Amino acid sequence: MRIAVCPGSFDPVTNGHIDVFARAAAVADQVIVAVLINKTKSSLFTVQERIEMLQEVVAPLDNVVVDSFYGLLVDYCRTHDVQAIVKGLRAVSDFDYELQMAQMNYRLAGVETLFVSTNPLYSYLSSSLVKEVAAHGGSVDGLLPQSVLGRLTDKLAENPSA
Ligand code: PNS
Repeated sequence: MRIAVCPGSFDPVTNGHIDVFARAAAVADQVIVAVLINKTKSSLFTVQERIEMLQEVVAPLDNVVVDSFYGLLVDYCRTHDVQAIVKGLRAVSDFDYELQMAQMNYRLAGVETLFVSTNPLYSYLSSSLVKEVAAHGGSVDGLLPQSVLGRLTDKLAENPSA
């Protein structure tokens, strides 16, 4: 069985991420969307909230599950029998860092990284920009699933300074 992982912070998941999950699901037997538990980076949503949002949006994809991990991604790959890391590449600006991580992960554990060219509809889209635009009252309609948009609106209402 070919297992792929789509790792990330997903704070929150966007339509760009979902496009990558669906494309990974079309080529792997099973895809694990893995949320990094990062104790040094502050996030708007808790890990549990991010997992819940991800579970809602991947529900239509039969071979996709959601998990979280702490520490090195390659250790997660080893313990979960993951053969490939799948990432979206939005633009040249993503390339340097993504290449560096792919090469390091291959060196550490021989795990391949496969890049999906992001749908041009979402090439400018990131969770950080979505949060910034939404926090200042801009429209992020069409960039997030409706359920996530609802949670983002509620979260920003609870934390107006976020
Ligand atoms: O959504 P993000 O924050 O850009 O995702 C980054 C992520 C989680 C893919 C990356 O930071 C990662 O793999 N972190 C796990 C720690 C690790 O393995 N670091 C070494 C990378 S070579």
